[in-house]
Amino acid sequence: MGKTKKYCFGLCLLISVAINILFSINLYVGGGQWGEKKHEDSCQPVLSWSEKAAAEAEAVAAISCSGHGRAYVDGLVFEGQPICECFDCYGGSDCSELSPECSADADSGDPLFLEPFWMQHATESAVVISGWHRMSYRYADYTTMSKELENYIRKIHLLVGNAATEGRYIVFGIGSTQLLNAAVYALSSENSSSSSNVLASIPFYPMYKAQTAFFNSESFEFEGDTYSWQSNNSKNNEDVIEFVTSPNNPDGELKKSVLGGKTIYDHAYYWPHFTPITGPSDHDLMIFTLSKLTGHAGTRFGWAVIKDKDVYEKVLNYISIADLGISKDTQLRVLKLLKVAVEGDGKPLFEFAYNTMRERWDRLTSVFSKSTRFSIQKRHPLHCNFFNETRLASPAYAWVKCEREEDDDCGAVLEAGKIIGRIGSTFSAKDRYTRLSLIKSKYDFELLLQRLTELVLRENGSIQTM
Ligand SMILES: Cc1ncc(COP(=O)(O)O)c(C=O)c1O
Repeated sequence: MGKTKKYCFGLCLLISVAINILFSINLYVGGGQWGEKKHEDSCQPVLSWSEKAAAEAEAVAAISCSGHGRAYVDGLVFEGQPICECFDCYGGSDCSELSPECSADADSGDPLFLEPFWMQHATESAVVISGWHRMSYRYADYTTMSKELENYIRKIHLLVGNAATEGRYIVFGIGSTQLLNAAVYALSSENSSSSSNVLASIPFYPMYKAQTAFFNSESFEFEGDTYSWQSNNSKNNEDVIEFVTSPNNPDGELKKSVLGGKTIYDHAYYWPHFTPITGPSDHDLMIFTLSKLTGHAGTRFGWAVIKDKDVYEKVLNYISIADLGISKDTQLRVLKLLKVAVEGDGKPLFEFAYNTMRERWDRLTSVFSKSTRFSIQKRHPLHCNFFNETRLASPAYAWVKCEREEDDDCGAVLEAGKIIGRIGSTFSAKDRYTRLSLIKSKYDFELLLQRLTELVLRENGSIQTM
């Protein structure tokens, strides 16, 4: 009996040891997935799914493109290799060929000036998305918006001190672009026999007009400039919806409501890198965008901060009908980015961003100070609560004026000097003005500054040809 017991014990021990060895081999060599296909070449380490994704991302990021382009995981592939996407003015398979006569493109508001910050923070900001990440339309609480992301949005506003969010509702949108029209819809009068009048102050961001016209609703109509409206309709400000862009695109002004009716405060640029933060904005409907906060315009994420519950529900309904909520993958990425943005109380991100913008403005003003043909907007010093000092604004765009009487098409004058800007009439202003973007990559900015310098030198007779 005793012998049989001993024998049984020995056998059990042996089986247990064998099972443990098998488990260990699977865990450390096989990636822990029973039944998953093993690597054909036994010399190659078998990677877990996240390690494989990371290896792919790092291999593509390591393609240098001569420092004048980028390769992306989702880019085109040639002979099994991701191809380089070259910066403006560079070409060739490795982006090493510069076109010397290339124009400086300062047209778009692509916020690539922040790319170096994210490269410096590669470790903290990378996201790995599993194949089964949040496949559902909704979160566990039956909403389509991540509560944790909302918490981080509130956190960054509190930290920067640029918006009151306590007791307010937050709605996410596909960029702030989607929320602009959602807000117009939510504020427009439902039961009125006439449509609500949508207005903005010249020069204004063209999307307000474009969207209101495009959606062609019976409930709202674009009526143009607030000041013209005021002089023609001084008594009737009741059914107006006014876009107040503060700081303004294109001129960087901290705008206030002109008409005092219903307002949509577009605060795309109300962050410490573009303007001193003078206090928390406390308006009924405020719209922000990730594009100009972290620079991730491609992620397409914005949010509205709303005081009134009815308005909130209408904006929510708009988003729900338009697209059943915002991509969960996007929300995950934004959460990760905001976690980095709030690190060190926001100082690393905002100091990097502000220093970049300030340096660009210093160099730009130095060039324009030598010109009588071109001028740029005045910037006002204000106390910034976030940095706790008085600073000049460093707007995203230079609003250039051609001063000579004959230069009434400023865009054409600049274009002749190999500079592409966005003409004044795009913003319902005069074409004597042109907007130049200062938030693109350092390569774009360097070329812009070079072309501007050449233009100003020609004006002063230092360069003969034109
Ligand atoms: C004033 C203003 N509002 C809104 C937007 C749209 O931003 P988003 O990328 O969030 O759609 C922009 C973009 O340039 C802008 O300048």
